[in-house]
Amino acid sequence: MFTPDYRPAPDLLAQRVILVTGASSGLGREAALAFARHGATVILHGRNTKRLEKLYDEIEGCGAPQPIILPLDLARAGEVDYANVEQAIRARAGRLDGLLHSAAHFAHLTELAHESLEHWLTTLRVNSAAVHALTRACLPLLRAAPDASVVATAEMHGLQPAAYWGAFAVSQGALLGWITILAQEWAPLPGLRVNLLVPGAVASPLRSRTHPGETQASRLAPAALVPLWLYLMGPDSRGVSGQVFEASKLLAR
Ligand SMILES: NC(=O)c1ccc[n+]([C@@H]2O[C@H](COP(=O)([O-])OP(=O)(O)OC[C@H]3O[C@@H](n4cnc5c(N)ncnc54)[C@H](OP(=O)(O)O)[C@@H]3O)[C@@H](O)[C@H]2O)c1
Repeated sequence: MFTPDYRPAPDLLAQRVILVTGASSGLGREAALAFARHGATVILHGRNTKRLEKLYDEIEGCGAPQPIILPLDLARAGEVDYANVEQAIRARAGRLDGLLHSAAHFAHLTELAHESLEHWLTTLRVNSAAVHALTRACLPLLRAAPDASVVATAEMHGLQPAAYWGAFAVSQGALLGWITILAQEWAPLPGLRVNLLVPGAVASPLRSRTHPGETQASRLAPAALVPLWLYLMGPDSRGVSGQVFEASKLLAR
């Protein structure tokens, strides 16, 4: 199991191909950089291509394997788009060893009475249905990898729903059910694992919107999560599946 003194090998992820959703911002951006610095070819997903290109240049500049940019709006993507993602990864990278889901849609904190059907559908579509659809589409590649890891990311209110967190909390809570079901279904397949990461308070554009009253000093820097991401994505977590990793309990402050 992960401990705060975990020290990943510098080339932990060499030869691996890892797709990171939400790589254009916040946690996904930091995770993609860390995976690349540890030898992985990273596939950078997001909507904002300018920010993805900036990250691409940063990764190339540090001598890491050349990344791949994958723009896709998860609020609009359908089965064909997800199938195209799998085809594109197969054609351009030839394999897929890891999938970090870090994209999230957040609109507001408000009473359920004010949340429309459209708002619910978009939030569930991006935060939970896309996680399932993308993983499902990539399954042939993940199955073919010798040691594949899928990591979903959820906000604490997914595990502890509370007033005003509405569709966002429900969409993130759905991921706990999803990883539990998937881990059981994958139990006979030792080369496949799926886990849930709950980052806690980490400085990011999203955090400033979900917790506007919080001080910067009370938030972790995204880089603090790097050991946990590397543990979950690399060979050291082989055999660990269906678990919830709460960063606030696992990382030394
Ligand atoms: N920061 C925290 O303290 C914290 C705490 C607990 C959990 N989390 C979880 O960590 C994950 C990352 O959060 P963050 O803080 O890094 O947020 P963030 O900085 O706002 O980044 C969100 C990412 O999601 C992408 N995204 C949003 N809507 C999308 C859509 N329709 N299609 C495709 N991509 C979309 C954004 O892409 P574009 O910018 O390109 O549109 C962006 O890359 C989320 O699951 C969040 O719930 C964060």
